[in-house]
Amino acid sequence: MRVLLLGGGGREHALALGLAADPAVDQLIVAPGNPGIAAVARLREVSPTDPQAVAALAVESAADLVVVGPEAPLVAGVADAVRAKGIAVFGPSSAAAAIEGSKAFAKEIMTAAGVPTARARACEDAAEVSAALDEFGAPYVVKNDGLAAGKGVVVTVDRSVAQRHAAECGRVVIEEYLDGPEVSLFVVTDGEAAVPLLPAQDFKRIGDGDAGPNTGGMGAYAPLPWAPPGLVDEVMRVVAYPTLARLRDRGTPFVGLLYIGLALTAAGPKVIEFNARFGDPETQAVLALLETPLAGLLHAAATGTLAAHPPLRWRSGSAVTVVVAAAGYPGTPRTGDPIDGADRPGVTHAGTARSADGALVSAGGRVLGCTATAPDLVAAREAAYALVDGVGLAGAQYRRDIALVAAESRMSLPT
Ligand code: AMP
Ligand code: GLY
Repeated sequence: MRVLLLGGGGREHALALGLAADPAVDQLIVAPGNPGIAAVARLREVSPTDPQAVAALAVESAADLVVVGPEAPLVAGVADAVRAKGIAVFGPSSAAAAIEGSKAFAKEIMTAAGVPTARARACEDAAEVSAALDEFGAPYVVKNDGLAAGKGVVVTVDRSVAQRHAAECGRVVIEEYLDGPEVSLFVVTDGEAAVPLLPAQDFKRIGDGDAGPNTGGMGAYAPLPWAPPGLVDEVMRVVAYPTLARLRDRGTPFVGLLYIGLALTAAGPKVIEFNARFGDPETQAVLALLETPLAGLLHAAATGTLAAHPPLRWRSGSAVTVVVAAAGYPGTPRTGDPIDGADRPGVTHAGTARSADGALVSAGGRVLGCTATAPDLVAAREAAYALVDGVGLAGAQYRRDIALVAAESRMSLPT
C-alpha cells in the first residue's frame, strides 16, 4: 500500500512511525513532514490547505490511502477533493469536519443527537455575552466559534477577562463550566462502524498543577487506570454512536477520527469538545501501545469496511508523553535554537527544522515529544522524563507533573 500522510507535527510523526511499521505499507510519503519524519518517510512540499494541490499530489504519488493529520486541511475540503479523485481518505469531508470547525455546529449536532454536553449560548455582541455570563456564572467558559488550534478557549473566574476574550473573538459560544477530570477518547470510524482507541488524558495548561494559559497540549498518558469500569462502552453508546448517526442522517457522514473530549462530571461523562482528527500529543501516547497495524485500520475506515476489521490488539502497560516546548510558548515562541538529543527512539518532532548548515533547530511552539512505554505509569513517567533530560534546547519549557496524579493513584472523580 502507498500512503500519503498530510501534516508535519508531533502527531504526524507518531502516525508516520505507526504507518511505516505496518508491513502492508511499501511507500510512505509525508507532506510537508518535518526533520524527524524524514527518517521514516519521503517528504514532499504541498500547501496543506489547498484541496486541489493535495489531490494532485495524491494522484501523482499513486496513493492508495491519504491520511489527513491536522484539522485545517479537513475544514478546507482536502478530504473531499482527494475522494473526488477516487482515492481512499482517512479524514472527514469539510461538512463533517465542521464538528470541530464550528463550536455552534457541534452543539447543534449534540442537541439533535441527545448527547450530554455543557449548556451553551452562541453570542454575537456584548449584551448577549453579558447575559450568558450571568446565566451560567463563574467559572466562565468563553470559546471562539472557529478553529483556534486548541487555544481559542478561556476559562476564568474573572468576568472582565471573559468579556475581553469575547470582544476579541467576535462570535463566541459561552457555556456552563463542567467540573471533573478530562478524558480524550479517539474513535476510528467509517461513518457507521466505530472502534474506540485507548482513553487518554491530555494536559492543556502550560504550567505544573494546571497553572497558566491553555496550550495545544503539554503531555498525555494512556490508558487511564482510574477510569470507571465501562467508561469507554458508555461513551460509545451515549456519545459516539448517536453523533455519528446524526451526521449520517443529515447527509454528512463522518469518516476518520472522531476525537471526543469529555469531562467526567458527577452527572456522568459530558462532551467538552469534538475534534475531527487525532489529538496532539495524546496520539503519541496512544499509538505507542497499539499493536494492530495502523495503515490497515485506517484503510478499513477510509473504505467503509471497518465492521470486518479484526478487534484491536494493545500492548499491556502504560505510555507517557511529555512535550518539550520553546521559550515563549504559548505566546510567540522563540525559534532558531539548536536542539540536541532529538534523534533517539521515543522522541517525536513537532516544531523542528534544519538550518542552512543542516543543524536541527527549533521552529515552533511545541518542539519535541518524549514518549515512553513501561509496565506501569510510574515506570513510564520515569522513562519519558529520562528522554526529556537528554534533550538540549535553550529555554525549554516542560511540565514535570505529566501523569503524576494518576501514577500516585490520587485521581478522584466527583460524586
Ligand atoms: P476546547 O478547545 O473546547 O477543548 O477547550 C479547551 C480546554 O478548555 C478544555 O480542554 C478544557 O480544559 C477547557 N474547557 C472547555 N470547555 C469547558 C467547560 N465547559 N467546562 C470546563 N472546562 C472547559
Ligand atoms: N491535545 C488536544 C488537541 O489535540 O486538540
